[in-house]
Amino acid sequence: MRVRGLEIEVFPGVYPPSEDTFLLMDAVSGEAGEYALELCSGTGSVGLSLSDRVDLMVCVELSVEAAKNTAHNFRKNGRRAEVILGDLFTPLKGKFDLVIMNPPYLPESGSDPWDLSWSGGEKGRAIIDRFLAEVAGYLREGGRAYLIQSSLNGIEETLNFAESAGLQAEVVRHAAFQFETLVAIRLTSKRIDTIMGMEKLKY
Ligand SMILES: C[S@@+](CC[C@H](N)C(=O)[O-])C[C@H]1O[C@@H](n2cnc3c(N)ncnc32)[C@H](O)[C@@H]1O
Repeated sequence: MRVRGLEIEVFPGVYPPSEDTFLLMDAVSGEAGEYALELCSGTGSVGLSLSDRVDLMVCVELSVEAAKNTAHNFRKNGRRAEVILGDLFTPLKGKFDLVIMNPPYLPESGSDPWDLSWSGGEKGRAIIDRFLAEVAGYLREGGRAYLIQSSLNGIEETLNFAESAGLQAEVVRHAAFQFETLVAIRLTSKRIDTIMGMEKLKY
C-alpha cells in the first residue's frame, strides 16, 4: 500500500497503518530530531516518514514478524534504520532528540500473538505507564517525545504522570471517533539553566 508517498508492505499478523498511525505521523511531521527512536514500530511507517530528516533512526519492536516488517519497509524505500527486536527501552543505551510511540493501548487483555498489537492490558495503560516511567532517561536535554493514546484509558492520568516525571506534557493533536477520541501527546524534557546561582526550569 502507498502511505504518504511511502511504499508500505504489511506482513501477515502485523498492525496495518491506521488512524492512530496517521495521527502520530501528523504530530511529528513538522519536526525532526537528529537522533530519533520509534518504539513499537510495527510496519515502520511513522519512523520511515521522518527518516529522511534525521541522522539516526532506531526502531524497537517486540514481535519478530513486525521487526522484520519494519526492516523490510526501510529497505524497500531506500532508507536506513537500526531495527532492534526487544521490549520497549530494554535493549537501548544512550539518549535521543525525538522518541515516538504508538503503543497497544486498548483496555482489554488478549492472549494470542495478534493481541500484542492492540491490547494494553486491563486498563490499557500497561505499555503507556512503562513508557512514562522511563522516557525522560532516554531524552537529551530539550528532547521531545510523542505518544498516542485513547480517551478510553486516561488522558489526564498520562498528563499528570508525565509532569511528575519532570516532563512538560500537552495534547497536540486529536481525532474523534464514535466510541473514543485518539490523542497525540507531546512530552518535552525540561531544561535546567543556572542563572546567578539559581536553578531555573525552562521548557
Ligand atoms: C498499535 S501497533 C503500532 C504499529 C506502528 N507503530 C503504527 O503506528 O502503525 C503497536 C505495536 O507495538 C508492538 N509492541 C507491543 N508491545 C511491545 C513492547 N513491549 N515493546 C516493543 N514493541 C511492542 C506490537 O507488536 C505492535 O507492532
